[in-house]
Amino acid sequence: MNAAAAAPAPTPTAALFADDPLLQIDDLVVGAESTEILKGVSLSARAGRTTGVVGESGSGKSMTALAVLGLLPTGVRATGGSIRFDGRDLLALGPRERRLVRGKQVGMVFQDPLAALDPVMRIDDQIGEILRRRDGVSRREARKRAVELLHRVEVPEPEHRAASYPHQLSGGQRQRVVIAMALAGKPRLILADEPTTALDVTVQARILELLRRLQREEDLSILLISHDLRVMAHFADDLVVMKHGEVVEAGPAATVLGDPQHPYTRNLIDNVPAVHA
Ligand SMILES: Nc1ncnc2c1ncn2[C@@H]1O[C@H](COP(=O)(O)OP(=O)(O)OP(=O)(O)O)[C@@H](O)[C@H]1O
Ligand SMILES: [Mg+2]
Repeated sequence: MNAAAAAPAPTPTAALFADDPLLQIDDLVVGAESTEILKGVSLSARAGRTTGVVGESGSGKSMTALAVLGLLPTGVRATGGSIRFDGRDLLALGPRERRLVRGKQVGMVFQDPLAALDPVMRIDDQIGEILRRRDGVSRREARKRAVELLHRVEVPEPEHRAASYPHQLSGGQRQRVVIAMALAGKPRLILADEPTTALDVTVQARILELLRRLQREEDLSILLISHDLRVMAHFADDLVVMKHGEVVEAGPAATVLGDPQHPYTRNLIDNVPAVHA
């Protein structure tokens, strides 16, 4: 799949910024007291498309996502650059507006669904809480809509599961619930940080297929963080490769994977023999 053989490869920036992106990060600098964690990261995510972010552990993938959400750990701050979402610079917003963006326009799905769920609250009430906050609906209506959402994310027997608690579900079902919660806010962008890493391989594929179906139906933009280049080969439209807090390569996923320019990217690919399968 050497896309670059047919036509000259566009420069990464031109390719990623071709149509007005929903999310555009420019030269983002994030640091803790004495260290720079992100050293000028630029990337973008388009509506209806998936931007994949790969890179070794500690390269700054999660920090990038947390910076978008305004959820950087204590002591870690964005000190430079911009994060434009739908034309607005999120770094310039106050905490209240930031929360609104997080709750309504940007959904999140992280690696550990248990950590995202309240162990002592029924599933339908957890999803319902978001609906009540967002749309001001009654508890009864919220529960009804929660069941509909569980149906959409293909949780089996949604009426029955709605009344259960997180520990009563499988890992894959829990992650579906987390996706339902992310959808409840009607987001335009989903940040998915290793959403399937904790799941077994067949469940992984189904969860990713689900995200893709939802993406098509809702014209969602997805920022997908994963170690797994095979996942990227299947699901990413654009691909960003990070190393030590910097983007070393970016462009259409087929081009980056088929004709990597940076030695680090080549090395990542060489370590995954089945990436072209
Ligand atoms: N609270 C913190 N204070 C200071 N530095 C931190 C803090 N949390 C993480 N870091 C540093 O930030 C860097 C980037 O971390 P990040 O979690 O974004 O990596 P990652 O690419 O998501 O890695 P992984 O693949 O393991 O999830 C790491 O070098 C890490 O040591
Ligand atoms: Mg991470």
